[in-house]
Amino acid sequence: QTIYLSDYKVPAYLVDTVELTFELFEDGARVHSTLELRRNPESADVSAPLELDGDSLKLESVALDGAKLAASDYEDRGDQLVIRSVPDQFRLTVVTWIEPQNNTRLEGLYKSSGMFCTQCEAEGFRCITFFPDRPDVMARFRTRIEANKEAYPILLSNGNDVEKGELENGRHFVTWEDPFPKPCYLFALVAGDLVEKRDSFTTCSGRDIDLRMYVEPRNAEKCDHAMDSLKRSMRWDEEVYGREYDLDIFMIVAVDDFNMGAMENKGLNIFNSSCVLASQETATDLAFQRIEAIVAHEYFHNWSGNRVTCRDWFQLSLKEGFTVFRDAQFSADMGSPTVKRIEDVTLLRTAQFAEDSGPMAHPVRPASYMEITNFYTLTIYEKGEEVVRMIHTLLGPDMFRKGSDLYFERHDGQAVTTDDFVRAMEDASGRDLSQFRLWYEQAGTPVLTVSDEFDAGQGVYRLTIEQSIPDTPGQTNKKPQHIPFALGLLGQDGQPLALQLEADASESPIERVLELTDASHTFEFHGLDAKPVPSLLRHFSAPVRVRYPWTREQLLFLMSHDPDGFNRWDAGQRLAVDVIQSLVGAADDAEVEPRLIEAYRSLVSDTDLDQALVAKMLQLPSEAYLIELAENADVPAIHQAREAVLKCLAHALRDELLACYQRNLETGAYEVTPEAIARRSLRNTALAWLLMINDEKGRTMAVSQMNDADNMTDRMGALRALVNSDYEDDRRQALDEFYNSFRDDPQVVEQWFSVQAASDRAGQLPDIRKLLEHPAFDWKNPNKIRSVVGAFAGQNLAAFHNPDGSGYDFLADQVCRLDDSNPQIAARLVTPLTRWQKFAPAYSGQMKSALERIRDKEGLSRDVYEVVHKSLAG
Ligand code: ARG
Ligand code: ZN
Repeated sequence: QTIYLSDYKVPAYLVDTVELTFELFEDGARVHSTLELRRNPESADVSAPLELDGDSLKLESVALDGAKLAASDYEDRGDQLVIRSVPDQFRLTVVTWIEPQNNTRLEGLYKSSGMFCTQCEAEGFRCITFFPDRPDVMARFRTRIEANKEAYPILLSNGNDVEKGELENGRHFVTWEDPFPKPCYLFALVAGDLVEKRDSFTTCSGRDIDLRMYVEPRNAEKCDHAMDSLKRSMRWDEEVYGREYDLDIFMIVAVDDFNMGAMENKGLNIFNSSCVLASQETATDLAFQRIEAIVAHEYFHNWSGNRVTCRDWFQLSLKEGFTVFRDAQFSADMGSPTVKRIEDVTLLRTAQFAEDSGPMAHPVRPASYMEITNFYTLTIYEKGEEVVRMIHTLLGPDMFRKGSDLYFERHDGQAVTTDDFVRAMEDASGRDLSQFRLWYEQAGTPVLTVSDEFDAGQGVYRLTIEQSIPDTPGQTNKKPQHIPFALGLLGQDGQPLALQLEADASESPIERVLELTDASHTFEFHGLDAKPVPSLLRHFSAPVRVRYPWTREQLLFLMSHDPDGFNRWDAGQRLAVDVIQSLVGAADDAEVEPRLIEAYRSLVSDTDLDQALVAKMLQLPSEAYLIELAENADVPAIHQAREAVLKCLAHALRDELLACYQRNLETGAYEVTPEAIARRSLRNTALAWLLMINDEKGRTMAVSQMNDADNMTDRMGALRALVNSDYEDDRRQALDEFYNSFRDDPQVVEQWFSVQAASDRAGQLPDIRKLLEHPAFDWKNPNKIRSVVGAFAGQNLAAFHNPDGSGYDFLADQVCRLDDSNPQIAARLVTPLTRWQKFAPAYSGQMKSALERIRDKEGLSRDVYEVVHKSLAG
């Protein structure tokens, strides 16, 4: 059942062209597929039978070079169609019958709110027709779609529409042709009653591209932001990577039922509605930013993913790591680079580090898997991004660009490996990245232990950095990795010092990227007259944990003096973590470090510092991050300590918070700029803190903000503050009013679900059960499941980790329930339980029993089986 990278063989047959005809009906769809096949001259297996992948297909007929095959000429094994004897080159026609209307897995062709749509990555195409469903088989596709014209006026597929016409019985057809060979995971089809929004883009070489968005009529006014984001992405990719769009049409479709965020199908990107639709009234700033990033991500895939694709699914990070890096660079350019970095590192350190130290830990290029959909992970995406970012840091922007140019040029139209990517970077730059490749092969988060000493006599500061990489399932005794370590040193007066690595160096920079390659290094910095304060791992230059015995004075000093914005923020986080940790399990009246309070006091009142950075610095480390840092985590104790610090800060800074709220009230028209976003973030943080301490003034402000806001960020900010307060009547009333105003908008209802499910006040288990009974809840819609069940188990941590184990039992029940209808989503939902070893024994035992209960479910899907078995074994 396990698939190994080491078993990779080139395909025995290649497909040159695919001709598809879809007859779409209400009770099913008939798919005619004609493939031009030939033996692969590079395959050693010269007599291999033809084996095509299939899943949930009803085979109607098979014909070879026009002659219908008898049942004895082929074997239909369900998951494979095998034909023993075929010529070296031939045409194969296969007709299958499928039932999109009953497809609850949302893989292959399915129906979502009355429209037909597809999701083929990674292995969904085999749910449509028999095909060699692997990314290294690339073919040219021609697709004809036939459907009832009234119900499905819009018929879309990849490439250009080359023919259309009327058919009998009120039906019509459109034929699409994609000139670029592609793997079948990039195939897409959409049929529905959709409105079209059009725009255009002129490329750098002067070609006019038709941009089209297709959405349900009620969403017609929510397309502008995605369209603008698309145009910015297209321009940016030309300017920064020299990549021009290649087809004449680029289409985006929004669908409500979607397992993931979005999909980069060639020329026809399909999005989860929540990742593309936005308006001032219905989407928060966070959603606006997320949409811009995801639109860019999918667009960038056209080169990093589609023109150059993956040889096999072990190489998934080839396209995902690189594309996440590209979209992160884009977002940094569009907004505040420091804030973008802070957000990405927060996710990495909270969730990817947890994955990397848990039972599902795997390398950026895994060596084996059971179910590939389980490997769309934070490690493949986010750690994969960091690996590409480190190459960028080591080579510098110019060499990196040369490397990416070479990569695209050398591999255009090919299906390649992460190794090919690294080789292009090496060849273009002349750098040796052989040790660096270990980042792709070894799992686990490296730990850097840093110690230092100052030799006053010689004026030398000695910094020793030792690296070690923890064992992970199936991997021990790891080799040291090649780590770029950016640092600076600050003098007592807060000024940056020259980093003089030799005693007689004349001019030295104030920031350096040290390269760690051995288990231990000692660096000497000369010409210093006092012990400096080190600013370590600036910009988070590598995805590692840094251990250094910071004193609280040092952290306070860095918080106000480090010229690297990221490290300023990081110093604040480390200080807050230290303070909260010291209060976990302490007496109720334990004192909160007064210097933390004073540091936050100056932050809340600071109007000079970049306000976007201030807004980030005010966020206390999350419970999830505190848990990740803990051993034998006692979640309710962590929750209590964090809340105590929050309340203490709010009490002590009440006047400053009120002033901050007033100062950041909106004056002009609504804008989505970094400055305006920072203002909204600051005032909503102030509001949330005031409500944490039941401040009457805060309550009045929240109620009126909730009613008067002209945008969702402020409305949601007020709602969230009220929901997390002790004002029970206001909470109820605010929730009801909010629901009544937005009940017809699924994306807003999802936000309404999750603000409750994530709250320890409104989201205790009985409340969650009520939400599941709510008329707007829908077990077939992944967004609804995530917004209630996912938010409860992933964000409402004190409630989920109820000492009586009820949270775990609840989650196990929901996983079992979903396992039959949508195994991919079920497997994702299990994640919080897989971390059982992280928690204090009273909790871990119960988490383990919940996992065992899932394991014992009858007919468990392969998706959930893999996750549960690995986490019980780990
Ligand atoms: N390639 C898509 C993206 O990163 C995500 C693919 C979804 N995969 C899945 N197994 N549903 O943009
Ligand atoms: Zn992607």
